[in-house]
Amino acid sequence: MEHNVNSTTDTAGRRVGGGPSVRATQTAKARAASGPRWLPWAKGAVFVAALYPLARIVLFGFTDRLGANPIEFITRSTGLWTLVFLCITLAVTPLRRLTGWTALIRFRRMLGLYAFFYAALHFTTYIWFDKWFDVAAMLKDVGKRPFITVGFAAFVLLIPLAVTSTRAMARKLGRRWQTLHRLIYAIGVLAILHFWWMKAGKHDLALPKLYGAIMLVLLGWRIGAWLVARYKAGGPTRAT
Ligand code: HEM
Repeated sequence: MEHNVNSTTDTAGRRVGGGPSVRATQTAKARAASGPRWLPWAKGAVFVAALYPLARIVLFGFTDRLGANPIEFITRSTGLWTLVFLCITLAVTPLRRLTGWTALIRFRRMLGLYAFFYAALHFTTYIWFDKWFDVAAMLKDVGKRPFITVGFAAFVLLIPLAVTSTRAMARKLGRRWQTLHRLIYAIGVLAILHFWWMKAGKHDLALPKLYGAIMLVLLGWRIGAWLVARYKAGGPTRAT
């Protein structure tokens, strides 16, 4: 009778015959799932670095460096950092594909949540410290500066993405998770529109043009990747 060496293991899962032990295979699988050893350290470093914009505001607040209009400073700073984190999050997939560095994907959720975090601070600064929850004052302001509604729409769309960002939610939603997370494209476009519209009123479009170009490349790359995949498969395919 032929003996299956791979399945011959002792009670501790050690190999008795030839082939890898069950435990070794399980350990290798667990290691692959948890990523390289340096990953937790790198994630910790990114987590701390991403707190820089908040730390800067707090430091400037304590050292009286927020300028003549601190609320405006905080609104603008948190708005710009929301956009920066949106762009970085959107850059993860193209960079991973271009460099082949698969570990990059492990940072995407954290970066996306930081975009949401700074958007929440931006929104809170506006409705709390700028308008003191005065709905009439907010409506009047929106009437004068309609770009605020566009920012609000982007923020509302970010909420379901933040809520469903966990692995458990991704598993639960299956394919619908990917469909839902395509909202990020609409959010990117709305964020640029919000910024552009605000700065157009001040005739200062240098930064909106720069971020608009970055967003165009990031979203254009996805459309290109999707078209290539579709062409190769000879039918509709997805590019994530
Ligand atoms: C994804 C969501 C959002 C993004 C990416 C975003 C981004 C930005 C950016 C980049 C600026 C200009 C900063 C600068 O001058 O350098 C800005 C300004 C502003 N945003 Fe947003 N924003 C978002 C959501 C919101 C929301 C929800 C509100 C309020 C309901 C809001 C209200 C404002 C206001 C009032 C300003 C102008 C501040 C001023 O005039 O000084 N934004 N935002």
